[in-house]
Amino acid sequence: MRDVLLVEKLDGHIARITVNRPDKLNALNGQVRCAVFGALDALGADDDVRVVVLTGAGDRAFIAGADISEFKDARPVEQYRAMQRGDIYGAVESFPKPVIAMINGFCLGGGCELAMACDMRVASTAARIGQPEINLGLIPGAGGTQRLPRLVGEGWAMRLIMSGELITGEKAEQIGLVEAAVAPEELEGHVMELASKIAVRSPLALQAAKESIMAARRMPLDEGLKFERSWFSLLFSTDDMAEGVGAFLEKRKPEFTGS
Ligand code: COA
Repeated sequence: MRDVLLVEKLDGHIARITVNRPDKLNALNGQVRCAVFGALDALGADDDVRVVVLTGAGDRAFIAGADISEFKDARPVEQYRAMQRGDIYGAVESFPKPVIAMINGFCLGGGCELAMACDMRVASTAARIGQPEINLGLIPGAGGTQRLPRLVGEGWAMRLIMSGELITGEKAEQIGLVEAAVAPEELEGHVMELASKIAVRSPLALQAAKESIMAARRMPLDEGLKFERSWFSLLFSTDDMAEGVGAFLEKRKPEFTGS
């Protein structure tokens, strides 16, 4: 049987996770969700991996949403429990390393929600992005009503969720849903360049940056500033900070080890 999730370690401390159900436009079923947890556990514990790229197999889809066939006979309590158990969105968000969504096609419903749980998003201009759950008589259930307005503001979140319309990668860039939209043939190169730029930084500083930026969502400014200051000060205990400062003063490139 084909693996529903491909996990590759690439050069330069980068790993790639690919949802591999191209004939179903990479829709997320229970099997994929389970495999995502396994992949994140392994990559989180692997010191050689500093950045993860998440994408979908084939040239049609990033992820076309939750697998709708699993909704058919689901009952409310089972559905609630399955979503709690299968919270890959929270797992990506709390993953201690940067995760970049490489959006190579349809990025819908749970796919858009997973992209939003990533730390950065780059889309192909050919991508079609949206939250079409309204067409099923539903609303987004994996963070769409919460993460989308934080990224694009309430008006666009209302529009996308209530109309179910799909927007292009370019439009998504204009409204801040993705940071960049590039031609399909440039997508992989663009994302790998970005990942490489990040992967040479100190893994400890990257983790501190991710946790501090995410703290801004839940903390008032004064608490967030204290949280940031604590991380900043803690980094003074690391070899990486000594290396970064030393390299600057010695006018050479730093070599960070993550210690
Ligand atoms: N769940 C389960 N299967 C899905 C799926 C999903 N979210 N999205 C696509 N697929 C399957 C289709 O059922 C089809 O399978 P089949 O060949 O066995 O019939 C296959 O993927 C290809 O999709 P198809 O609909 O034939 O392609 P299309 O180009 O005509 O349309 C979409 C593409 C994305 C517009 C359409 O598939 C769609 O609307 N998908 C659902 C998107 C959605 O509502 N996501 C949110 C879910 S909460």
